[in-house]
Amino acid sequence: MRVVTIIPTYNEIESLPNTLSRLRSNVPDSDVLIVDDNSPDGTGGFADFAAAKDGQVHVLHRKRKEGLGAAYIAGFHWGLDAGYDILVEMDADGSHQPEQMHLLLDAVAEGADLAMGSRWVSGGEVVSWPLHRKLLSRLGSLYSRILLGAEIRDFTGGYRAFRRQTLQKIDLDSVESVGYCFQVDLAWKVAQLGLRIVEVPIVFVEREHGDSKMSRKIVMESIVRVTRWGIRTRWQTLKHKIMSNREQKRRPS
Ligand code: GDD
Ligand code: MN
Repeated sequence: MRVVTIIPTYNEIESLPNTLSRLRSNVPDSDVLIVDDNSPDGTGGFADFAAAKDGQVHVLHRKRKEGLGAAYIAGFHWGLDAGYDILVEMDADGSHQPEQMHLLLDAVAEGADLAMGSRWVSGGEVVSWPLHRKLLSRLGSLYSRILLGAEIRDFTGGYRAFRRQTLQKIDLDSVESVGYCFQVDLAWKVAQLGLRIVEVPIVFVEREHGDSKMSRKIVMESIVRVTRWGIRTRWQTLKHKIMSNREQKRRPS
């Protein structure tokens, strides 16, 4: 099985070197694709330097900051075109511990179509997050779970391993989410296809350097989109029920 770990970066010069070296030593079989959005702090330059030294490291340079979703879509296309069997999503800031990646890869080897690292299942944990971030993450997952009706405990988590066939079944170019809502979007698309999603507990460690790119705009996008998807699905289910009721009444008994 050929594995590629996709790491989106925006201003991660203080974190990426360490994350990359931990990844290369803990999961030496995985190739790496860094997707950099022209970070002003020189992250892209470091990525090029790392790629020149290590044939398993690759870099995708994008012109401008277009959000996590767009970076991942570009990375997935690259990985699928290159023929990888498993495509892993991982943050650059050390929050997703490379030492735990085997949990995701094992779940896929055991049959999962999508393995998700989960902070909000038994055994999962978040280290050093302020209360408001914990609340936001838990409420975001709860809201998504209720509105979308999918049994996923950590809907927004970003440490995941996709089987290549899973991504091939999704029309990646139809994914509209720009920010972190992309994570909910993709998980829900996989759930709707009826594919096998397995959540494995992970310990998420808050970054030590640099800043989160989370913003009010990113939170708003998630609320608006999840609400819209939830209403749309419910409306469609209702419409379907009304139609089949009418159909039954029309039939002579
Ligand atoms: N290329 C690119 N473009 N990368 C980005 C962008 C962007 O516009 N925005 C964020 N990133 C990268 C960061 O550089 C980092 O590697 C990763 O995406 C996560 O960003 P953070 O800013 O560290 O996110 P967080 O810790 O606040 O995010 C939490 O929510 C995310 C979305 O659900 C965590 O739970 C993450 O695991 C999760 O992916
Ligand atoms: Mn982070």
